[in-house]
Amino acid sequence: FPPSMIPILTPTSENLQRAAEALRRGELVGMPTETVYGLAGDARDPAALARIFEVKRRPFFDPLIVHVAERAQLDDLCEVTPEAETLMRAFWPGPLTLVLAKKSTVPDLATSGLPSVAVRMPAHPVARALLRASGLALAAPSANPFGALSPTRPEHVATAFGTGIDCVLDGGPCSVGVESTVLGWENGEPRLLRAGGVPLEALQQALGKTIRTGESAPDSPKAAQASPGTLPWHYAPRTPLRLIAPGALPGTKAAGLLCFGKAGNASEYARVENLSPTGNLAEAAMNLFAALHRLDAAGLEILHATFVPDSGLGRAINDRLRKAAAAPKERER
Ligand code: TXA
Ligand code: MG
Repeated sequence: FPPSMIPILTPTSENLQRAAEALRRGELVGMPTETVYGLAGDARDPAALARIFEVKRRPFFDPLIVHVAERAQLDDLCEVTPEAETLMRAFWPGPLTLVLAKKSTVPDLATSGLPSVAVRMPAHPVARALLRASGLALAAPSANPFGALSPTRPEHVATAFGTGIDCVLDGGPCSVGVESTVLGWENGEPRLLRAGGVPLEALQQALGKTIRTGESAPDSPKAAQASPGTLPWHYAPRTPLRLIAPGALPGTKAAGLLCFGKAGNASEYARVENLSPTGNLAEAAMNLFAALHRLDAAGLEILHATFVPDSGLGRAINDRLRKAAAAPKERER
């Protein structure tokens, strides 16, 4: 990694205090969570929220997730429904974000003017320590420039942004490795807005019902404002990425391969990242973005990737791969 201006700090109690003070001053901090690193700012401070959008170059129509350490912090953020309550009991703290009716004290910038707010209680001990030390609810999108690969290592954050962040707290590599699952409700029925760290199957089991996935009904008032995480491209490396069938040929000497399990013709590629040689989906999710960052830094012409089985965490992995492959040409830098 090239040297960065942003300090990566060990989460000692002094450094946590420093980061908490920066947050209380309206500055931004790179916060480790179990899913990916977040770019955290005070969720109640419109100036801090505006900085998040500016530093990330994120369009204002894409709302943020508000992170809390305690259930009581939700009291002046959102309305908790019985189904949300069930899911919080089953999966919090953890990689599940719930989109609930917001209270008026939540700034419009956090929600892009939507009547709902996305809330999550992270499990990572450093995220929880920072939330407690600051006493704030923290808005935190993934700490990557808009559309780019998500960060799962502190270095990914420090090198992605030149300035504009007070510090990054070092929480080590993220153990889940893909973003939280985002679940909302539409006409009272749950709908998956983004596949993520809690598998759909586990949510369905907890609620005892099938959860809708995919696009909103066209007549739904929500259809026009579908969760921006469902944009067709996102999470993209700078190197073009193509999805291939297992065993396809590289076609050029400067191709990289992202694969899973037993990889047929890996020896044909200049560089190979196997997400999990033993075929373990949790391990593959944990390795996904770091492997893509390494392949992207290797100076290759093209990256090839194969899908993983589309169950459990595989659904989130395949979603990220599809979006990485769908990056339009004009986004290549
Ligand atoms: O794992 C995660 O969720 C990470 C860590 C840092 O917590 N955060 C994250 O944030 O992935 P971000 O901003 O990259 O993704 C937030 C997702 C987007 O897809 C956004 O559209 C959706 O949540 N979202 C936020 N508020 C929403 C709302 N009110 N209605 C619908 N979707 C919402
Ligand atoms: Mg993101």
